[in-house]
Order: sequence, then structure tokens, then C-alpha cells
Amino acid sequence: MSCDCVGISHAYVIFGATGNLAVHKLLPALYQLHCMGHLADDVEILGCGRTPFTQVSWQAEVRQQLLKQGVADDAALEGFIQRLDYLAGSLTEATFYQALGAWIQSDGECANNVIFYLSVSPDLYVTVTEGLAAAQLLDEAQGFRRMVIEKPFGHDLESARTLQHSLSEHLKEEQIYRIDHYVGKEAVQNLLVLRFANLILEPLWNRYHIDHIQITHAETVGVDGRASYYDKSGGAVRDMIQSHLLQVMALLAMEPPVSLEAEALRNEKVKVLQSIRPVNLEALATHAIRGQYAAGEVKGEAVPGYLQETGVAAGSHTESYAAMKLYIDNWRWKDVPFYLRTGKRLKERRSLVAVRFKQPPMQLFKGSGVYQPHPNWLLIGIQPEDAVRMEISAKVPGLEMHTRQIVMDASVSTPGERKAEAYEELLLDVIKGDRSLFLRYDEVKAAWTVVDPVMQRWADDEQLPLQYPAGGWGPKAAEKIFGDSDRAWRHTLSCNGGE
Ligand code: BG6
Repeated sequence: MSCDCVGISHAYVIFGATGNLAVHKLLPALYQLHCMGHLADDVEILGCGRTPFTQVSWQAEVRQQLLKQGVADDAALEGFIQRLDYLAGSLTEATFYQALGAWIQSDGECANNVIFYLSVSPDLYVTVTEGLAAAQLLDEAQGFRRMVIEKPFGHDLESARTLQHSLSEHLKEEQIYRIDHYVGKEAVQNLLVLRFANLILEPLWNRYHIDHIQITHAETVGVDGRASYYDKSGGAVRDMIQSHLLQVMALLAMEPPVSLEAEALRNEKVKVLQSIRPVNLEALATHAIRGQYAAGEVKGEAVPGYLQETGVAAGSHTESYAAMKLYIDNWRWKDVPFYLRTGKRLKERRSLVAVRFKQPPMQLFKGSGVYQPHPNWLLIGIQPEDAVRMEISAKVPGLEMHTRQIVMDASVSTPGERKAEAYEELLLDVIKGDRSLFLRYDEVKAAWTVVDPVMQRWADDEQLPLQYPAGGWGPKAAEKIFGDSDRAWRHTLSCNGGE
């Protein structure tokens, strides 16, 4: 989806510019776009925040942050720094929006096209939108005005509805870019290519050949500096499953779209999300499992438990781990379980999709020596490896008819190839006006519809989430989600992936 946007003059306005996301993701991504020549010469990037930086001190701050992140101190960095400006103020005051309006007006050509990026606490989304609207900064008389909204879009179905209602009073749907950075990851976009640029998977990609699919996002980090946000408004289901993992599931399960146009793609994704069977609340313990990390050791380092983290409420029930079993009630997937799981403070940082195929209808080699019926697996690494692996059975060389599992292995990128960061792709797409990788409201709504009943049930449950030691693979009981079958979690891409 690369295109040269050199021709598009615009201003990028980042609310919450001094926050973690802006400093560690957005500004580095814009810097890369600058280096790759995707920003028109006159594009300016305005940081907005409460910290009283001047343009000069803000430029010095960003320069220092980028250098810390390994950026070279050269002419490209200097060129990028010259694009930066800063406006200090409070997002709740009308005077701030008047000052912003004056800044935009003084920005020449760029004043016509403005992108507003809301990298602020979700409870400010409506305040900022109303402030911009009152100052007439959302009118598209001269060019475009686009609003990028970070997840979470609401904290449940009801609040998502209310937020949507408030936003739509001031913005047309075409102006809203609901970002899910996971969808911008190279390996996640590659799911579309794997499925729809190849023919070999399609005949097998259904309930007749697939036993089940696992989607894992494992992290070694804890809640770090975000505890107060995560504890109150997050939890593994809200933070990861409702958004990122359900998006991955939709991409894996969707029908081929008629084109890669935004609406065509999103139409197919939303159909999947809307076809997810309501989670069985009567048997919740085998359909959704929640956990919370206890003290332990991650990569040889002792770490505190979730409840000991600064900013976490005493006795908090917020889950740092969640696993869910979901079914899609449509012709292709009826009765094929999709297992989604995510957790913090796990053994490794790894995200992968594991597709297990069914066994052949007859076990021809059963009576022949040490036969082990290995099912075929297709493993797709999302991070850190972007690899595609297929596990198949083959004969062990020798006179006996023994079988073993072998792996067909391909790395998606070649050594030395630079992988684009998710935010680079997405920030560029906003400039281009390409909304295919952004979420439509009906997708968000369908995703909340899936997880809401589970979250409500957990909220009413007085028991603490299952405790798991930091540095492991989550609560043991998460295996219960597979029932009595021979299924088990795949933690890695290697053949003994259960380890
Ligand atoms: C964010 C979540 O959306 O995604 C974080 O809020 C999580 O809690 C992060 O750590 C994971 O994404 P990535 O790209 O860092 O693996």
C-alpha cells in the first residue's frame, strides 16, 4: 500500500504529544515517513499538550528522544525536527481551540488539510471533538479534516454506542479513522496475502479440513507505567481480545473480498464478527478463562505480581491474562473452535497463529512400527518471527516404515530487509485517505457484542482471577478450554511448540 504522498500538503496535529504513544510510536513513524520521502516539503507536525514547551524546547526534546531510540544524528533528522511545532494548553478550554485555529490558519497551504490524532485518554475524545467543532476546525470546506482515534473505542458496548453518537454529531464517518495498530503489522497484513494471493490454502480453509485455530499474543512485560489506566479501563479482554485478536480472527476467517477497497474488506470482516456465536455463559469456565500474574521470574529477573504493581487497586479483579473459545456460525466455520489468548508477564514475547488440520480419514501407517499420528499444522509467526511453517509427516529413512514430523519453513522477510512499523503504514494511510486498515463502527460494535457478556459475568464474580506465576504460560486451567480432547496450546513455532 505504498504511495508517494509528497503532493499532499497537510498538518498533522497530535493531541497528547508528550505521552508514551506519541513519543515512542507516532513521532518515530512520522520521522520514517519523512526519511522515505512520503511527507510533502511543507508538512508541519504540531504537538499539543499541557507541558509548557516552546517550539525550540519541543524540537530539542523530540531530537533527544529520537536519538535515544537509535536514530542517526544527520541531515534527515534535522529536516524532520524543522517540521515540528508545539502548542501548549488545556484540551478542556475554548481558548486552546482558538489558538489552534490561529496556528492552522497561519500554516499556509497545509491549513486546508489537517489530521488530528487523539493520543489522549479516551475520556477526552468527545471533549476534543466538541472543542474542534466549536472552533469550526472540523469543516471540510477547503480540504480534508480527519480524526484518528486510538483504541479503546468505548469500554463496553454501551459506551462505544454513546461515543459513536457524540462523534457522529460533528464528524462524517469518512472523517473518522479508528486505529488498531495490530492490523497495520506487516505479518497481520500478510494474512490477507497468504490467503488470497495463493490458491493452495483455500480448498483446505474450512470446517472439513481444519480442526481448530489458535491465536496467541504473549508478552513478557507487565503493566509497567500504565497500571492506573490498565487496572481501571483495561484488562486483557478489553485491551487485546476485543480489538487486536478479534481483528486477526476476522482476517483469518473472512471470505475473499470483492476488492481491497476499504468497504469491501470491512464488509467481509464485519460478517465474521457478527457471526460469532455468543459465548456459552452457562459453561463459562471452559469457554473463557481469566488470570492475573503473581510474582515470579521473567527472563531471569524477579518481578512483582499484578497486585503489587504501583497504581493497581488493592484486591483488583482486572485480568492480565485471558483465553476464549469462540465459534463462527457460518457455512465455512461451523463448529471449528477458535482459541484466542493473551497475557502479560508470560514466558516469551510471541504472537502467532496456529492452524491445526484434521487427521486423514484412515490411519494407513498405524500398524507399522513407531507410528505417531501427528496432525498437520500451519504456523504463522506474527512477532518476533514473521515466518510461515507447515508441519507434515514424513518417513524416517531406513528399512522400517517409521514416521516423524518434519517442517517446511519459510521466513517472510529476508535478512537485512527493513520491516515497516505498523504506525508508519497507518499514519501514511490517513494521509492518503485509505481507510481499509481502520475499523468501521459496526466492526467495533460487533466485537464488543462478543466480549461484553463475558466481561459482565466476570465483573459480578467475587473470586479473584486465577493466579499464575510471572514467567510461565499462564494459568494451568487455561488448558481446560480444550475440554477432554488431545488439543493443547502451541506456545512457539517449533515442532515441540508446547514447550
Ligand atoms: C496495545 C495494548 O494496544 O497493544 C498493550 O494496549 C499491548 O497492552 C500492545 O502491550 C501490544 O502490541 P505490540 O505491537 O506492542 O505487540
